[in-house]
Amino acid sequence: MLRSRPVHLAGPENFELRHCPAPDLEDGQALVRIELAALSAWQGMRTKDFKNFIRPFDIGELISCDTFARVVESRCDTLPTGAAVVGRQGWQDYAAVRPEDVSVASDAYTAEEWLTALSSPGQTPYLAFSQKVRPMPGETLVVTSAAGAVGSYAVQLGRLAGARVVGIAGGPEKCAFVRDRLCADAAVDYRADSFRADLAAACPDGVNLYFDTVGGPVADAVSENLAKRADILLVGRVAANNSAEPERDMANLRHVWSQEATIHAFNRYAYKELYPLVIERLGALLRAGRLTMHNEVVEGMEKTPAALHDLLSGNHVGKMLVRYTDRDGNRL
Ligand SMILES: NC(=O)c1ccc[n+]([C@@H]2O[C@H](COP(=O)([O-])OP(=O)(O)OC[C@H]3O[C@@H](n4cnc5c(N)ncnc54)[C@H](OP(=O)(O)O)[C@@H]3O)[C@@H](O)[C@H]2O)c1
Repeated sequence: MLRSRPVHLAGPENFELRHCPAPDLEDGQALVRIELAALSAWQGMRTKDFKNFIRPFDIGELISCDTFARVVESRCDTLPTGAAVVGRQGWQDYAAVRPEDVSVASDAYTAEEWLTALSSPGQTPYLAFSQKVRPMPGETLVVTSAAGAVGSYAVQLGRLAGARVVGIAGGPEKCAFVRDRLCADAAVDYRADSFRADLAAACPDGVNLYFDTVGGPVADAVSENLAKRADILLVGRVAANNSAEPERDMANLRHVWSQEATIHAFNRYAYKELYPLVIERLGALLRAGRLTMHNEVVEGMEKTPAALHDLLSGNHVGKMLVRYTDRDGNRL
């Protein structure tokens, strides 16, 4: 549960663990045991109280997150005992769910695949590229938080679309990951003193498409390299959200104006009807070995708040997951 609001990054001091009985089932409900939980930047964002597309968590509220769970008791025909489900059951061991709260997860994919490549990390860039602006062969695509959950799939999907992909990440190790494991054409470290010069060198013909997950000074640096009539996909605002003043998200729009660039604000939730199709497409890419998963899995639900702090600090590569039970449902 949320105990207090952080000034910068949410961490263990902002949460409390409560022990309470598992819920009693009503007709039409199933009791699920959560096995795997997905941590995301938006959970940190919602611990703060500022105007957003989604309301902040209340003090004392259970923290929501995407989960993979298994039905352990059922009073619902369509959710039989043993069925695997994905939903948004949050940071808890058990939850009572109705069919509309979850989707049945087929055995064709693993729990990790269901919460990463087939969920928000893979779906966000797939939908942004297919519904807003498609990366084109020969053009330069720049991706921020390129070693993170969403960013790592944006890099891979950009490459599959034939674009020349430049990933931006914090530190040499993450840049090596972006270059060597995600196969970006170039990776640039935004924490290096030479960042602006390195970025300009990596984008000699300018930036045609900018997949912006962070905003702030990094976005300003990318703006300086925009090609004429570039497109900017506004996908997230990590820099402002993580700051002590999330309402302030200044960016120098002078270059956007002078290059006649177009800004496209993107939110995955606007495309819910396309989720099944996108899961099918991403699943096909996974099975063909054309898309790879990179996850960090923490064991034990008590470690969830510290894992969220690590995620917001950038101390991770790929998607941060927390395993609550082993395959037999035993607590870790
Ligand atoms: N629009 C949508 O539908 C949608 C859907 C899902 C997610 N998102 C957004 O996508 C973004 C990424 O989410 P995620 O869950 O995949 O998180 P993530 O990328 O796994 O983690 C966030 C990363 O942002 C980087 N970062 C933090 N502070 C930064 C700063 N001041 N400047 C530059 N980079 C910074 C860190 O990586 P480094 O170590 O490289 O700094 C950190 O690892 C978030 O903004 C999220 O809100 C949007």
